[in-house]
Amino acid sequence: MELPRQGRGSARDATADRRAGDGDGPLYPFPEGWYFVADRRSLAKQNPIQRQWLGEDIVVWRDDGGAVCAARAVCPHLGASLGPAAGGRVRDGRLVCPFHGFAYDVRGACVATPVGPPPPSAKLKVFETREIAGLVFAWWGIDGRPPQWRLPEDSPEEYGWGGKEIRTIRFPGHPQETTENSVDLAHLRYVHGYDAVKPVGETTVEGAYLLTRFDFRRRRRIAGFTDLIYDVSATTHIHGLGYSFVEVVERTIGMRSRLWVLATPVDGRLIDIVLVSQLRALRKPRRPISGLGFLPVKLRTRLMNRILLSSQVRDVRQDVTIWANKRYRPRPSLSRSDGEIGLYRRYCRQFYPCGPGGGTRGED
Ligand code: FES
Ligand SMILES: [Fe+2]
Repeated sequence: MELPRQGRGSARDATADRRAGDGDGPLYPFPEGWYFVADRRSLAKQNPIQRQWLGEDIVVWRDDGGAVCAARAVCPHLGASLGPAAGGRVRDGRLVCPFHGFAYDVRGACVATPVGPPPPSAKLKVFETREIAGLVFAWWGIDGRPPQWRLPEDSPEEYGWGGKEIRTIRFPGHPQETTENSVDLAHLRYVHGYDAVKPVGETTVEGAYLLTRFDFRRRRRIAGFTDLIYDVSATTHIHGLGYSFVEVVERTIGMRSRLWVLATPVDGRLIDIVLVSQLRALRKPRRPISGLGFLPVKLRTRLMNRILLSSQVRDVRQDVTIWANKRYRPRPSLSRSDGEIGLYRRYCRQFYPCGPGGGTRGED
């Protein structure tokens, strides 16, 4: 399989130090799947967003009807960058190249030029997009192949929920390694200090969908006042390695929250973990929350959501210390308490049509 040009160099750089001659090898940096490209709210009317995404330089914009396009940021005419830093702009819902003014619609077709009819071959490389709860994802296929599976059809119910808070953390890592944490229950206690961690029911796999549940308890200081015991059930819906959606029920306060964990490869070495947190309106907490109880519901919900998100960010930072320094073990020495890591590894194979090492190696 041909690696993307940018991915090839950086992936090798990234993993060179992992090949220490003990049989460990690198994972191919870009498993196939749906990956986060933008929060719809961040798509302004005049400027496209530009970013590095799975080794591609992409622009994302929306037209006046709200349709979103994610496309390679290179003009097919003479190769100018379509990003805002180079002067790429959105006019009347079309992306206009700063070099000769070719205009592209959200399907990627060149629909106008200042000098005459557009050349029929002038077409952007467009990535298929899908939106869930205002979050825009695009499909990245090996060798550019079309989507092999879909994200869930329905967005989760938004009625009665507060706004979303988003944080992004960038570090050297791989989405298979970060997503593996969802089934690695042993680390929850050891790294994050959770108590009474226990799996609930079976972890199941259906095509590109993996479902896993666990309960745990956790002591946290809320708003600097009280030590609270959180008594939590977490249900994690994984759709490929770029999309995890966690539904959380906390019983002592009576809170429902949800967290998207969106691992997104940047360049073959770095990844972004985008955390999106949302809390169901906190109307009647089952127990008083010092410092927050007197606030109006909307504000209380927003503050509590921020507190929950910073607690998630703290967890991820604890993991980053491990992830950024670990090697991928294709044949790990698993213990009995490791749970479903074997099942998870088998699930992951489908995202590497040529094998997890990109055709160079297999996995037991
Ligand atoms: S390079 Fe974009 S219009 Fe010429
Ligand atoms: Fe973790």
